[in-house]
Amino acid sequence: MWKKWFGKADKNIAEFELDREKMPRHVAIIMDGNGRWAKKRAMPRTFGHRQGVETLKRIVQFASDAGLQVLTVYAFSTENWRRPSSEVDFLMTLFKEFLEQEIDELHRNRVRIRFIGDIAGLPMVLQQTFADAECLTANNPGLIFNVAVNYGGRAEIVQAVRALAMQVKEGEISYDAISEASISDQLYTAGQPDPDLLIRPSGDFRISNFLLWQLAYTEFWFTETLWPDFSVEEFAAAMIAYQKRERRFGGLKR
Ligand code: IPE
Ligand code: IPE
Ligand code: MG
Repeated sequence: MWKKWFGKADKNIAEFELDREKMPRHVAIIMDGNGRWAKKRAMPRTFGHRQGVETLKRIVQFASDAGLQVLTVYAFSTENWRRPSSEVDFLMTLFKEFLEQEIDELHRNRVRIRFIGDIAGLPMVLQQTFADAECLTANNPGLIFNVAVNYGGRAEIVQAVRALAMQVKEGEISYDAISEASISDQLYTAGQPDPDLLIRPSGDFRISNFLLWQLAYTEFWFTETLWPDFSVEEFAAAMIAYQKRERRFGGLKR
């Protein structure tokens, strides 16, 4: 599946001295620190968000070139509605702009874009843009690029539980058929491997309601760098650190 892009991937992996055998399959990123980045420059928070989009473009390109299977980025949480409406409106417009500008390039790179979260709770125009982008790239064999918008980990689990409860109620499954696997299958990330690596920039050490179920055994990597300053080099450094970790999954040292 990934063979076709190995040429480019090999170049990137070699350049950053990554171990091809130990590449994470799925990397998740909490894109945080745009506001602080702007504040340091005495600029409005929106300026930071714009710059954050520039970082995202570089990171998704690198993830695609490096042959990652899945990249998931946290763009807007179910709690971010608490922000002033001017900032929320700006972000919604920015998501639309990002897609309009980038979708052709993503498609050319064989990226399959998906939006995870309560998409039905977003403005109609955005829902349409998201649906068009998903549809265009649906059959692409390259990087799966999940963009979490109006996403909350607890809300995601609630909707999974409701879907399973409904199946039990309708007599489609028995209550004891509910398992870790059947819950995973009801999540937005159904069918994808859980994240191997979570990156959070900006010096906050929390997960802010991101992928609560999926992060059970994920390796965490934190940096003080603010998202607009996050570079491809630092991304590679996070992956190198990941490659040195020993994952035990509750077992013993090998
Ligand atoms: C992350 O940057 C972007 C979103 C949450 C949409 P922030 O806007 O949270 O930036 P800080 O944390 O205030 O610096
Ligand atoms: C997490 O960042 C959400 C996104 C990056 C989209 P926040 O800035 O909302 O997180 P808190 O409020 O600092 O926990
Ligand atoms: Mg923040």
